[in-house]
Amino acid sequence: MTPAFDDLPVALPPGCVGARVVGDPAAWSEAFDWPTELTDAAATRRSDFLMGRLAAVEALRRLGVDGSVGRSSDGAPVWPEGVAGSLTHHSGVAAAVVGRQAGGLGPSDDGPGRDIAGLGIDICPRLDGDRLRAVVRQCLTEAERERWAGEEAATVAFAAKESIYKAAYSRARRFIGFAEAEIMDVSDGAWIAQLSGPLAEEIGVDAVTGSYAWDGSLLYAVLALESPR
Ligand SMILES: CC(C)(COP(=O)(O)OP(=O)(O)OC[C@H]1O[C@@H](n2cnc3c(N)ncnc32)[C@H](O)[C@@H]1OP(=O)(O)O)[C@@H](O)C(=O)NCCC(=O)NCCS
Repeated sequence: MTPAFDDLPVALPPGCVGARVVGDPAAWSEAFDWPTELTDAAATRRSDFLMGRLAAVEALRRLGVDGSVGRSSDGAPVWPEGVAGSLTHHSGVAAAVVGRQAGGLGPSDDGPGRDIAGLGIDICPRLDGDRLRAVVRQCLTEAERERWAGEEAATVAFAAKESIYKAAYSRARRFIGFAEAEIMDVSDGAWIAQLSGPLAEEIGVDAVTGSYAWDGSLLYAVLALESPR
């Protein structure tokens, strides 16, 4: 059985492409080259990993890159030379987004989004109940708790912060705490975050704008960090 891919339901940064795969990966896993640390992992973890890799390879194909995605010892994905990317998975759904880094993949057309320093994508189910309370307490700042207290707003704020982490990690190469970015605005499919402390210096900007969209009860959040020109 061949996996079926479709487009992401969220606006992507200029020049970036994405792919999503939905389904039961058990039928696709036989010929997969598993990293040794996942050989004995739980079935759900192996499914998530495989789904993420399938979405990533399809996104790369759509970018015109024939390649695969490795895994570094800190858990971050390793993209082919000249590519920035990110992937996410949740309960039988996985999504990936990729873009080109400057000078990496042949001639650039100087268009927007052709020099991506880092990408982040996150899928998050609508938060409610105990999970909502835990996320609000642990991952949102005091100001965010006041602004984004409801289920949908808190979900967007949380997923946006996870996407910041993924996009920024390749620059920062360290754990980035939830207090280092504050979601200032959420409206019409876009969110804005203010960065503080060392993170702003590491990335070279003190504010970023990402996108989000709901697909049923799943929230997709995406962020691209462009290289400073
Ligand atoms: C690492 C983290 C962001 C993953 O997010 P998640 O919602 O748990 O899981 P997702 O399915 O969305 O994403 C998992 C994928 O993220 C990727 N990932 C893991 N660590 C990563 C890192 N350091 N940098 C970039 N991507 C990373 C991997 O590809 C992973 O999938 P894989 O293990 O199958 O390859 C999250 O677990 C985490 O540690 N968050 C705390 C830090 C944070 O978000 N701070 C906010 C700063 S404002």
